Amino acid sequence: MTPLISPLSSNDIETVATLARIVWQDTYSGIITQAQIDFMLGQRYDTRRLLEELAMPQVWWDKATLDGELVAFASSLLSATPGEMKLDKIYVDPARQRLGLGGRLIAHVAQRALAQGCSTLILAVNKRNERAIAAYRKHGFFVRNAVCVDIGNDFVMDDFIMARLLR
Ligand SMILES: CC(C)(COP(=O)(O)OP(=O)(O)OC[C@H]1O[C@@H](n2cnc3c(N)ncnc32)[C@H](O)[C@@H]1OP(=O)(O)O)[C@@H](O)C(=O)NCCC(=O)NCCS
Repeated sequence: MTPLISPLSSNDIETVATLARIVWQDTYSGIITQAQIDFMLGQRYDTRRLLEELAMPQVWWDKATLDGELVAFASSLLSATPGEMKLDKIYVDPARQRLGLGGRLIAHVAQRALAQGCSTLILAVNKRNERAIAAYRKHGFFVRNAVCVDIGNDFVMDDFIMARLLR
């Protein structure tokens, strides 16, 4: 099962927002409240925001397709710290998780980070998202520190920052 990994286009935005909703419900229902899921999805997958991100030179959106079907996506960006790229989002269709798609997207983003002169790939993951933490450990990340970020509307992101050294 070899996915095609390619840049996301504006035509994919609706599909990505729909897939994000499916994955978020599956992943976060037992971790954060439904109100927080709705709030964060509304913020992150708003069409105008995605169009803006697609136009940004230091933000990359990738999609993984199987037989033309979009089954996973990731976004990455240059973080404020020199030498660091952030894997900002990575989501795989629940029916296709644990088949290596996430690993392939991570490898793709790691290659980009190296090409951009970065030595570290970082990400933030909810402390209670044990499956994702296990996946990140499998793909070479370690927990670097913990943060609790106020995102408004009385919601916080209670996360581990994980890092993978690239060289
Ligand atoms: C986390 C995620 C991106 C990993 O992608 P993936 O394609 O499933 O992962 P891979 O096949 O590359 O790696 C598999 C590893 O992930 C972990 N994993 C993934 N799904 C799992 C599950 N349902 N149960 C337990 N472990 C799981 C395991 O460590 C697994 O290794 P193993 O099969 O040897 O035990 C994907 O599972 C996903 O989208 N999860 C839901 C959304 C999410 O949490 N995204 C990350 C937000 S920070």
